[in-house]
Amino acid sequence: MYLKIILYTCIVALLQGQLLVAHGFIFQSPEHEEKVDVGCRECHAAVASIEELLSVGASEQELETLAIEICIDFHLFIDDVCVEMVQLAAPQVLYVLNTTEHDVDTVCHVFFGTCKSTLPPWSIDVPGGKPDVVPPVVGDSTYRILHLSDTHFDPEYTEGTISNCDHPSCCRDWNDTITNDTVFAGRWGSERGSCDPPLRTVEAALEVARTLNPDIIYVTGDLSPHVVWMLTEEDIRASVVDTAAVIRRYFPDTPVAYTLGNHETVPVNSFPVPDVYPDGYSMDWLYPLLETVWGDGGVPESAMDTVRRGGYYHWSPVPGLRVVSLNVNYGYHENWFLLINHVDPTGQLEWLAQVLLNAEAAGEKVHIIGHIPIGSLLEAFSHNMNLLITRFESTIAAIFVGHSHFDKVQLHWDVDNNTRPVSIAYFAPSLSSDGLKSPSFRMYEVDGPGGSWTVLESLTYSMNLTLANAGADPAFPLAYSATEAYDLPDLWPASWADLVFQMTEDDDLFNEFYGHYWSFWADPPELPDCGPECRADFLCPLVGGDRTDDEPCLRIKALVPGYYNVTESFVY
Ligand SMILES: *[C@@H]1O[C@H](CO)[C@@H](O)[C@H](O)[C@H]1NC(C)=O
Ligand SMILES: *[C@@H]1O[C@H](CO)[C@@H](O)[C@H](O)[C@H]1NC(C)=O
Ligand SMILES: *[C@@H]1O[C@H](CO)[C@@H](O)[C@H](O)[C@H]1NC(C)=O
Ligand SMILES: *[C@@H]1O[C@H](CO)[C@@H](O)[C@H](O)[C@H]1NC(C)=O
Ligand SMILES: *[C@@H]1O[C@H](CO)[C@@H](O)[C@H](O)[C@H]1NC(C)=O
Ligand SMILES: *[C@@H]1O[C@H](CO)[C@@H](O)[C@H](O)[C@H]1NC(C)=O
Repeated sequence: MYLKIILYTCIVALLQGQLLVAHGFIFQSPEHEEKVDVGCRECHAAVASIEELLSVGASEQELETLAIEICIDFHLFIDDVCVEMVQLAAPQVLYVLNTTEHDVDTVCHVFFGTCKSTLPPWSIDVPGGKPDVVPPVVGDSTYRILHLSDTHFDPEYTEGTISNCDHPSCCRDWNDTITNDTVFAGRWGSERGSCDPPLRTVEAALEVARTLNPDIIYVTGDLSPHVVWMLTEEDIRASVVDTAAVIRRYFPDTPVAYTLGNHETVPVNSFPVPDVYPDGYSMDWLYPLLETVWGDGGVPESAMDTVRRGGYYHWSPVPGLRVVSLNVNYGYHENWFLLINHVDPTGQLEWLAQVLLNAEAAGEKVHIIGHIPIGSLLEAFSHNMNLLITRFESTIAAIFVGHSHFDKVQLHWDVDNNTRPVSIAYFAPSLSSDGLKSPSFRMYEVDGPGGSWTVLESLTYSMNLTLANAGADPAFPLAYSATEAYDLPDLWPASWADLVFQMTEDDDLFNEFYGHYWSFWADPPELPDCGPECRADFLCPLVGGDRTDDEPCLRIKALVPGYYNVTESFVY
């Protein structure tokens, strides 16, 4: 029994990491997107016990059975989820725990965000010769970018099923318990439950987006539904192919740049590093398919070497602009294979430095697209990215991410002067309604060919699910324009930085931003109360583009009136 209780904490953390985080329950707590509630001591005891059991020869089967028992006994999840998630994840987790050379505290830090023991730092060579920084010169041609993220459409979404069901993800035909609180799934998605949308909601968004005439489309990942415990490689491939097919149906000629989300694999988050290929793990089931699908979006054959190697590429869809699509899963703490080797797996950042150098030499501007915001990645990966962003601040015109499902931004600062903003990452709100939000997408107007390729305007479109489910047209009206809503003179990093610091004190501005962050909840219950601690925790990630630099966050805290200076809890 003692062993069971110790292991219990580990299994809780693991399953939470895999299910709750992947799923979005914790979205209800805006500041701690990826926090898992297991302390360092508990985690240490649990991981040490598992490693001890492995070292005395416990078999995969024995540990799996134990984990399933614990999950079911303690009612962590409904029984079928316990069985399937453990069966899916346990072989890889045990392999990693059995193989990693890092100590238990580091395992806990990476897996669960508990103990403060980071993976050893590593660094890349940052090319010298940084040109003088001059303000961008805006020309007069506009280029329009459609940004779709976290579409997660569920091919088995079924209208009329339970949207707040016993499973971690709902709106499927599951015979779960009906109570007097049950909310049934509407035609276009669920306002209140834990559901991904049906395909028709994606189609409705694309129908509206088509009328806005984008010149290019950025899709920043997470295409498969949140039923992570039951997905197969075949399901992931189908979501990649089917999402691309529906986008092509509405946009037969528009270039499309994709990037890989943490949901583009099974088990979710798992991207094996080359070191484990000899032991039979690989991404061969996915990367070759991307060549076909991404090639159909316009990525040229010459860009495919790195797609085959690591799921990333660079591509110039129009003269003057180079799009760099990163696979940030090689820097994401939930990818347990990084406990085997986290030092630039597949050589991605070394490659990126060269791509940026070549772009600079060619006088091109770069848009970086990636799924997870850089400030949430592992320390060294995050910091190295910031070194490159600082070095190439005159070349990188903007960064586009998703993952959060929420609508926000994240600032990157000069690594040698963290009061000087050098870049801004735009988060597109998710098209999935999962996380209690309205399906949304983003359009940018950028300074186009011959110009600076900086973002001039950011327009967000959201569906009101309440209205659509009641029978209205499935419309995606304009929710807001960033320059108008926040009264910004331009969307350069310095203006965003001013806005974020203004929000420490300006309640109206904060509430405006906070409302957008929740993407106009379909039928809004009151927004959660956000007092000083909540406000500081909310604003900190907005200034936290470098995971290793807490200082901008401390400046925020010092400015929020009434902020109670508590000891930092660890936050991803
Ligand atoms: C753990 O590693 C040892 C030694 O390499 C091996 O004999 C054992 O089978 C492994 N256990 C599991 C569960 O993989
Ligand atoms: C549905 O749930 C009820 C009540 O739990 C159960 O009696 C019934 O057998 C279930 N039906 C199916 C098809 O699983
Ligand atoms: C729902 O049912 C529970 C238990 O049967 C009861 O306590 C509760 O008051 C009911 N809620 C509503 C809104 O009827
Ligand atoms: C840091 O950046 C700020 C804002 O651009 C600037 O005012 C300041 O002079 C810089 N400090 C140093 C030491 O360069
Ligand atoms: C969505 O529509 C409902 C029903 O008309 C309305 O009550 C709600 O305020 C709308 N939500 C937003 C964010 O406009
Ligand atoms: C919070 O408290 C710590 C320790 O007492 C102190 O070092 C830090 O400067 C304080 N931060 C703010 C923003 O007041």
